[in-house]
Amino acid sequence: MKSTEIKPGIYWVGYIDWDVRDFHGYQTSRGSTYNAYLIVDEKIALIDAVKGGYAYDLIDKISEHIDPAKIDYVVSNHTEPDHSGELQRILDIAKNAKVVATQKGKDGLEKYYEGNWDYEVVKTGDSISLGKNTMEFIATPMLHWPDSMFTYIPEQKLLFSMDAFGQHFASSGRFDDQVDICELLAEAKIYYANIIMHLGSTVARTLKAAEKLEIDMIAPSHGVIWRSMIADIISAYQDWAVCKPTNKALVLYDSMWHSTEMMAVSIAEGLGNGGVPAKLLNVSINDVTHLATEVLDCAAVIVGSPTLNNGMLPTVASFMTYIQGLQPKGKLGFAFGSHGWAGGAVPKVRTMLEDTGVEIVHENITCKYKPDAEELKVCYEAGQILAEKIKTNICLP
Ligand code: FEO
Repeated sequence: MKSTEIKPGIYWVGYIDWDVRDFHGYQTSRGSTYNAYLIVDEKIALIDAVKGGYAYDLIDKISEHIDPAKIDYVVSNHTEPDHSGELQRILDIAKNAKVVATQKGKDGLEKYYEGNWDYEVVKTGDSISLGKNTMEFIATPMLHWPDSMFTYIPEQKLLFSMDAFGQHFASSGRFDDQVDICELLAEAKIYYANIIMHLGSTVARTLKAAEKLEIDMIAPSHGVIWRSMIADIISAYQDWAVCKPTNKALVLYDSMWHSTEMMAVSIAEGLGNGGVPAKLLNVSINDVTHLATEVLDCAAVIVGSPTLNNGMLPTVASFMTYIQGLQPKGKLGFAFGSHGWAGGAVPKVRTMLEDTGVEIVHENITCKYKPDAEELKVCYEAGQILAEKIKTNICLP
């Protein structure tokens, strides 16, 4: 696939990875792209340098427009190797190029690549003139690494936003108006939930700082470029930054002999009949990428596990570990599960929910061997009580 001109003299020169299905545990069912951008002006700049293994494609695309040896600046907006993996190969060709990065970016690149590169360290407020275009730099530490920064071209109202606003979404279209909007927004949400959810306050702060920028194009490091739906994606980020709850509860569980499953069903029925749609999700058959995305905008996370060897099932522990790292905000919940002769799973699930930041709104619910009618009634009523709290929380009648 050829390069694409996204603004006069500015080109997308990235790589479309149709085949990638796993991104350190994140399931990328629609592939991804590693975006790089070339600015051809009196001076020439390359923004980021794709994942390792794809330099041949990047160099081909750059060569459509200029001799890669003439690159003056290689901007590293983000050190993670899916964007810096081919920096050395580019610098082997562009021998006079300066590497532009934040101090943390320089530190990270030196550790990863040990290259004797010529750096220009930048911070918020710094800029470099290329001629008709100016690169202005905005450090965005912990969005999502300490090194991260945006590069903004005021003359073009163009923001290179690295991972922010990205999507793992391979497509032949390069812009938001050239792809299926539902698929695009779904992928943007999955990306936010799995990569950025735990950084909500940083996102909110960055969105606030970006308000003063005139933007008519956002070019992220993954997926398509936003030009028609900028207000939509910014509005979505504002909601996601606070994990804004919708009228939805998740009952997440695994079961050994259907006892915990029976409890889960009764809790979900109580929620549903109380006016809150509940999703019953068995963590052993749903991948964590999907589950984390459901958590992002739910109102409550109720987690159940039977006891195995005094602890929770490994499938539940795996989910809880993943979600604990993502630290969803403002969720209600509680723990439940069955056991044989001795319990152990449910208190541990509760502790992990608390460590995740979930507000516990019901005492643990347990039962021995198999729930009887009275125990299922307790589960059902817990669902109803939780439904009332959720409706109050999100201001439903
Ligand atoms: Fe796409 Fe954080 O790298």
